[in-house]
Amino acid sequence: MPTPSPSTVRKTYSEIDKYSSTERHERRVKAIGIASGDDRPRPFDVARPDPAPGEVLVRTLRVGVDGTDHEVVAGAHGGPPPGEEFLILGHEAVGVVVDPTTTDFERGDVVVPTVRRPPSDGSNAYFERGEADMAPPSACVERGIDGAHGFMSEYFTSSAAFLIPIPEQLAPWGFLVEPTSISEKALELARASRSSFAWTPETALVLGTGPLGLVAVAMLVPEMDVYCLGRRDRSDPGVALVEALGATYVDSRETPVGAVPDAHESADLVYEATGHARHALDCVDALAPNGVAALLGLPGASEVTVDAGHFHSDLVMHNKALVGSVNSGPEHFRAAVERLAGFPSWFFEEYVTEIAPVEGFEAAFDPDATLKTAVEFDTL
Ligand code: NAP
Ligand code: BGC
Ligand code: ZN
Repeated sequence: MPTPSPSTVRKTYSEIDKYSSTERHERRVKAIGIASGDDRPRPFDVARPDPAPGEVLVRTLRVGVDGTDHEVVAGAHGGPPPGEEFLILGHEAVGVVVDPTTTDFERGDVVVPTVRRPPSDGSNAYFERGEADMAPPSACVERGIDGAHGFMSEYFTSSAAFLIPIPEQLAPWGFLVEPTSISEKALELARASRSSFAWTPETALVLGTGPLGLVAVAMLVPEMDVYCLGRRDRSDPGVALVEALGATYVDSRETPVGAVPDAHESADLVYEATGHARHALDCVDALAPNGVAALLGLPGASEVTVDAGHFHSDLVMHNKALVGSVNSGPEHFRAAVERLAGFPSWFFEEYVTEIAPVEGFEAAFDPDATLKTAVEFDTL
């Protein structure tokens, strides 16, 4: 289990009580959001949310930032709730229950929220089946991303059904549960697509040395030989982390995706986390027979020239599979909690390169920030 950061100080219950007093209706809280038409996040002063029965009021600890947040800030993905001019950002959160209302949660529980919620016209079969992650975008909203405010504020509320309890000792790194759950789901879908025959993957190729790719490397190295492709110099901290984890770095400027089999070996499993559209096509060349590639990136429009006949017949003649994967469900969050508990503690210190205070939240959105960043609202 990862050790809490030394700066973590436990608040007493009387301090927590202070926040759930009758004053709460008058309180304003700090939030970080993006206004329509802006190209950088800014602070907002918003009313503290009031939990309805069945909802939970959560005091936010830390909220992570990923490539999707940068895409939302750039206006390339998602947007504010209907009729609103700004979106409170943040979908990778960890917090502490301060008001459980009528739910089974208890004050002091450490929780991580899932991202998807039913759309404004009500619930649907995906949510009723507990498979919101399989809903098309038209059948859900995503908190902090598309159509619903996120968790980057001092407090947030959520239906208890969308909160995952986590062990208290994981609280400092709890903001990594959501992104890790994304990889849990993608790898589950990839494995499921190969479940009708004896498939024992020995080699993986992860595309991207960003936050998502690096978590996938950490997940896969105990099980197989892992190559990780990026476009950074070897002095880059992401490359150093790839190598520290025991994976082999591949510089795409020297060895593009399709050349990996000749330069190294073909991969039973490809995990695409670059958001570079061409990689969805080129990765098929990097696959071994019977291999599968999981695609996670969210590229904008991109026209490329391909030999569609080669692409098509290679997939068919070698029983290859491509599977797209988005979002994650409660079981993936629970798997992620287990997964993070098994990561070496040094990984967290190397991987998380910036914990910015709310007053200096801009540092967490710096496009040149090296690896994983988060905004800290409070400590346990
Ligand atoms: P990120 O921080 O943008 O990381 C992308 C990484 O890919 C960076 O290391 C980037 O290199 C590298 N890269 C981009 N183009 C490349 C190329 N042509 N050759 C080699 N490397 C290249 O994003 P992230 O947070 O890790 O997420 C990765 C992608 O997955 C994003 O598109 C994100 O939106 C998406 N995503 C999807 C889901 C889902 O549910 N499907 C969940 C989370 C994220 P540089 O650092 O040099 O730019
Ligand atoms: C989030 C997912 C979300 C996806 C598409 C990712 O960054 O982690 O929860 O479904 O973006 O918006
Ligand atoms: Zn994300």
